[in-house]
Amino acid sequence: MKSDTRKLAFLTGCTGLVGGHFLIHLYQSGYHIRALVRSTSSFDQVRLICAFYNQSFDELYDSVEWIWGNTLDYVGLCERMTGVEDVYHCAAIVSFNSKNSKELLRTNIQGTSNMVDAALKCGIKRFCFISSIGALGNAKKGDFVYENTPRKSNGESSVYSDSKFRSELEVWRAGNEGLNTVILNPGIILGPGTPTKGSLLLIQAGRKGMPFYTKATTGYVDVRDVCRAGMELMGKNKFGKHFILVSENIDNKELFSMIASEFNKKPPRFFAGKTILLLGAFLSESYGIISGKVPQLTKETVETAQNPQKYSNQQIRSTLNFNFIPLLQTIRDTCDFLKENKI
Ligand SMILES: NC(=O)c1ccc[n+]([C@@H]2O[C@H](COP(=O)([O-])OP(=O)(O)OC[C@H]3O[C@@H](n4cnc5c(N)ncnc54)[C@H](OP(=O)(O)O)[C@@H]3O)[C@@H](O)[C@H]2O)c1
Repeated sequence: MKSDTRKLAFLTGCTGLVGGHFLIHLYQSGYHIRALVRSTSSFDQVRLICAFYNQSFDELYDSVEWIWGNTLDYVGLCERMTGVEDVYHCAAIVSFNSKNSKELLRTNIQGTSNMVDAALKCGIKRFCFISSIGALGNAKKGDFVYENTPRKSNGESSVYSDSKFRSELEVWRAGNEGLNTVILNPGIILGPGTPTKGSLLLIQAGRKGMPFYTKATTGYVDVRDVCRAGMELMGKNKFGKHFILVSENIDNKELFSMIASEFNKKPPRFFAGKTILLLGAFLSESYGIISGKVPQLTKETVETAQNPQKYSNQQIRSTLNFNFIPLLQTIRDTCDFLKENKI
């Protein structure tokens, strides 16, 4: 009998947008995959992402080694990481709803700490962590944010940003203890997936013809570029650094206009200042409490919208000679996928 010579990768968060795309990229690159999923996880988004890549879901499902567990279970992680070469840690709670703060901080910080400690214990060769631009500092007006822009603890950042910064610290600490780490700092990630969740809610809002815009400017990136950059950095042993992954920095009027034009909807027309947004957040959060639904607008998203930032992608471009998928292409591919599949 022939032995399996494929490299073994351990993946977390594969039922989410980013992990789902990593799952296919790793699988189609010839990895054997051990994927950690919670017993409550749904595979609906994985099915959708498979359809985008013309990948049979059944074939993938049968080939992956599914591990039912949780990043909060350190002992379980140690047992399951044995024999693994590469780890891709995408699992996290992505939320700007202060109601989730406790769970979010615990999952993102303790979950990452457990992951790197298990990786050290199991002698993992390479560890890739999906952080966020939210973990970085803010630039002075008009300047770009770089990987080394200092982060100031002025109490103005969201709980989510703090959680990503503090989980990154766990990865840096493990790097000092001997783990080979690559940290990715993606901007807002877009690409084919479930449009009613996470960052793809932006596509959903634009598709409905979002009438309002704010002064929010930030960086965006295609999910395929996140996977490609992560795998290339790991393959080329570019350890001990972090990399901003942003294809373009644009304001949200431009973003919603691009999405609206894909669905023949009107672009945003009305500027929403901070007072209007705070009122909207109050109504949205109140409705969330009554209905039990996740609020679409919160005080934290309003604060983020008041802080326009541009991010430099110079480091990844020079390290890998990396070319990003243009944002318009990302939006087209995502919207076409949603239209073709009537999602
Ligand atoms: N989306 C963005 O715009 C964006 C931008 C920058 C950085 N990031 C980072 O990219 C990563 C992935 O984000 P995403 O957008 O793909 O998020 P997502 O769609 O919400 O997926 C999160 C994934 O994490 C899993 N998870 C959550 N808590 C877990 C736990 N305790 N144990 C095991 N698995 C757990 C979820 O499992 P269930 O299916 O069971 O819930 C899901 O598979 C995160 O680290 C996020 O901070 C995202």
